[in-house]
Amino acid sequence: MSATVLVQTQGISRRYGGLMAVSGLDMEVRAGEILGLIGPNGAGKSTTFNLISGFVKPTQGRLFIDGMDVTGASPTRISKLGLVRTFQHGSLMKTLTVRDNLLIGAIGATRAGQGTERRARVAEAAAMLGLESHMQEIAGNLPHGLQRLVSIAIAFAVHPRILCLDEPLTGLNQTEAAHALGVFRQIRDKYGCAILLVEHNMKAVMAVCERIIVLHHGQLLATGTPAEIRANQSVVDAYLGVRHAR
Ligand SMILES: Nc1ncnc2c1ncn2[C@@H]1O[C@H](COP(=O)(O)OP(=O)(O)OP(=O)(O)O)[C@@H](O)[C@H]1O
Ligand SMILES: [Mg+2]
Repeated sequence: MSATVLVQTQGISRRYGGLMAVSGLDMEVRAGEILGLIGPNGAGKSTTFNLISGFVKPTQGRLFIDGMDVTGASPTRISKLGLVRTFQHGSLMKTLTVRDNLLIGAIGATRAGQGTERRARVAEAAAMLGLESHMQEIAGNLPHGLQRLVSIAIAFAVHPRILCLDEPLTGLNQTEAAHALGVFRQIRDKYGCAILLVEHNMKAVMAVCERIIVLHHGQLLATGTPAEIRANQSVVDAYLGVRHAR
């Protein structure tokens, strides 16, 4: 039996002037999987996130969530359908406390009068990301690694079905990165949430992802298991070999 497809793009493209940031991309995110999205700087990974989360409209192609055509839908509508993303350069309100940041995620996903549910989500997200002892601190004063975890906790408080993380491990030390990877697995295992992970940390991607999509110059270069991707000569030439040679 084939896995349920939650998100599907058909020939999705985004042009900026003369540049095709993403070009004719067909990809899918399946229920409960941890899917990696990798490729060199400028390959179109963040633009793909922008397209599937509604922050940027495609110049061509279609976007489906649960088989429903949602091309051109707003970020709010898409997050209500369960797709929530973090931003590469941080998704938190630096002048607010950690608790208030998590509340923003919980409020966005609940209705007025659901205070108990909101508090429960804040507590759950704090526990999941190990932030309980930092709840009263101003988010912008936290070390970079913890700020990354707050960004993920805000998204988690929305109770996504598809959680899209754009370089969540940037600036984390090895211990923090290992902890974060454990959290990603737990979010998937406990809540059945699919995770789409953009990362340049190849060790982490290869360890945690079941499937990987490789972009190059805005186009799909390869899709496969970590072993298949590592053994793919065009991926090695375009990206992995370059990284290893650094
Ligand atoms: N708003 C924009 N206006 C103009 N060009 C853009 C815009 N957003 C992205 N681009 C261009 O599109 C291309 C893809 O960018 P994108 O940010 O998607 O790459 P990326 O794969 O996320 O790279 P990185 O690994 O460096 O984060 C780049 O050449 C970038 O300069
Ligand atoms: Mg990017």
